[in-house]
Amino acid sequence: MEVIQPEYCLRSAVESDLESIAKIHLIAYSKSHFTSLLPAAVLISYYGIFLRGGVEIVVATKVSNPNDIVGFAVFGRQIPLLIASFKRLHRRDIVRASLAHPLTSILKLLNLLAKRRSPNADHLPCGFLLLSIASSLPRAGIGGMLLDALSARASEQHEDTVGLYVNSDNIGAMNAYIKDGFRFVCLIHNQYYLEKLT
Ligand SMILES: CC(C)(COP(=O)(O)OP(=O)(O)OC[C@H]1O[C@@H](n2cnc3c(N)ncnc32)[C@H](O)[C@@H]1OP(=O)(O)O)[C@@H](O)C(=O)NCCC(=O)NCCS
Repeated sequence: MEVIQPEYCLRSAVESDLESIAKIHLIAYSKSHFTSLLPAAVLISYYGIFLRGGVEIVVATKVSNPNDIVGFAVFGRQIPLLIASFKRLHRRDIVRASLAHPLTSILKLLNLLAKRRSPNADHLPCGFLLLSIASSLPRAGIGGMLLDALSARASEQHEDTVGLYVNSDNIGAMNAYIKDGFRFVCLIHNQYYLEKLT
């Protein structure tokens, strides 16, 4: 019987992976995500803050070349704190990116205001969150592998729940999450909050 060898494998990210991670983010994320309007150097710093802040970044690579990164996922505790720290450090870059993309920024601002007025605005997420997930080779099973790693790591760390936010128009990601066992908890204007029990 022929044994089919897997094409991709997972490992923890290291500093030298940050450039590839930023590149994949810029390829995969739609421009409706504010982070994909940031220059690559700022995104490298963004993911560096999570890597150094104790949040896990898992990368998917080709089995034939562990430096050929084809996807990544960022998850753990302290995510809101680290986002706040990124915003403090890169205030000027954020303003510059907003001015360079006025329409997206206005939309983002309107969405933020609408979120504050949403009936679920005060809903608190669980402590263990998926911040980002992306694959440069769509529908090759890489997102599913990364979601499996997320659940495995959460249960190793005795986390009983994993949460995430997804834009309501991101049908591909939503399908991937539902297929992986995530369930809708609430809608906060244009974002769903989903959870999965590990
Ligand atoms: C979300 C994402 C990581 C999924 O990665 P992926 O490698 O394509 O995922 P998989 O190949 O493991 O697919 C898992 C399932 O997701 C669903 N799915 C993925 N992309 C889809 C799409 N474009 N349309 C519909 N369903 C899709 C399917 O149910 C798929 O299973 P199937 O191929 O057996 O039907 C990828 O679409 C991505 O990088 N998106 C851009 C970044 C992003 O928006 N991240 C999420 C932010 S919240």
